[in-house]
Amino acid sequence: MSHPGVGQAGVSQVTIKVRANGPLKVTGPVTLVDHEGRPFEIRGDDLVLCRCGRSADKPFCDGAHRGGFDGTCARQQAL
Ligand code: FES
Repeated sequence: MSHPGVGQAGVSQVTIKVRANGPLKVTGPVTLVDHEGRPFEIRGDDLVLCRCGRSADKPFCDGAHRGGFDGTCARQQAL
């Protein structure tokens, strides 16, 4: 059975997925802290972080990006 955030070798790993025109989804064992190092309460197994700047619940996404945020971000091909 696999667990979120645990890789094949049993080593914890974090994955950050850029959602199309949306937030960053962070999966894995992380601690999110503010600018003074105070930890945020983590709700659930994943973090969904705002990258559009419209959330009223920053740093978390609250769905406000659905109003037309263009955040296209794709991996560049290797040269
Ligand atoms: S990315 Fe969802 S509210 Fe900003």
